[in-house]
Amino acid sequence: MKVLDASFVKKFIQMCNDGWEQGWHERNGGNLSYRIKNEEIDEVKEQLDLSGEWKEIGTTVLKLAGEYFLVTGSGKFFRNVILDPEDSICIIKIDETGSKYKICWGLVNGGRPTSELPSHLMNHEVKKELTGGKHRVIYHAHTTNVIALTFVLPLKDEVFTRELWEMATECPVVFPDGIGVIGWMVPGGRDIAVATSEMMKKYDVVIWAHHGIFGSGEDFDTTFGLVHTVEKSAEIYVKVMSMAPKKLQTIKPDEFRNLAADFHVALPERFLYEK
Ligand code: 13P
Ligand code: ZN
Repeated sequence: MKVLDASFVKKFIQMCNDGWEQGWHERNGGNLSYRIKNEEIDEVKEQLDLSGEWKEIGTTVLKLAGEYFLVTGSGKFFRNVILDPEDSICIIKIDETGSKYKICWGLVNGGRPTSELPSHLMNHEVKKELTGGKHRVIYHAHTTNVIALTFVLPLKDEVFTRELWEMATECPVVFPDGIGVIGWMVPGGRDIAVATSEMMKKYDVVIWAHHGIFGSGEDFDTTFGLVHTVEKSAEIYVKVMSMAPKKLQTIKPDEFRNLAADFHVALPERFLYEK
């Protein structure tokens, strides 16, 4: 089968375009990666070129040795993924040491996988282990309202989780574990990858202050839906704060506890503090 005819590739391209249409991917902002299933790789095997050279990832992900990923290219525009996927995205294979990758398909006009590859792969490694292999998608987007909030709210997991839970009743059900927040760091390297993957041990959503968001999920729909829900909630927060400096009423801790019981989710008590 042609790579571009495979359903996981079509879904990947659709998600890139959905993010573009939301306005989260100015220029080359944001990146997406998918840990490809064995049976999906078998479908496209004859189209893969394994003769390329191994290159350094910049970190080590031993538990991902031998795995294949579909990844956006560094400097590539999400806007162009749907128009020219073979120029914009690539399939990579991880070597047996977990420290190198090679490009097996795509990026036909040259280039390399996203500069955030260390963060993507270290997040994948954590989530693969923690979810028994269920999580396959890592998504980084420059979500406008989430970024705006990192200038006015304390950069604390408890504050972001609680404020965003309060903005939409569905939020505690969609991200019951909460949200991690990391203060500003230089992007693109191992340090931010280590910090983010540590947070991914507790959360499916991690915010990078003054930069954007990372989401992890089982498939394209749930991962996009997760990031979309958090960003929508941040948008409501921005609107509320723009109308009045203080909320007149909101969802209270006991009401969250009632919601948790009815919707069968566990909401950590550390987010249900009295204000
Ligand atoms: P890349 O173009 O290398 O994916 O970088 C975009 C980005 O959002 C960096 O954080
Ligand atoms: Zn970014």
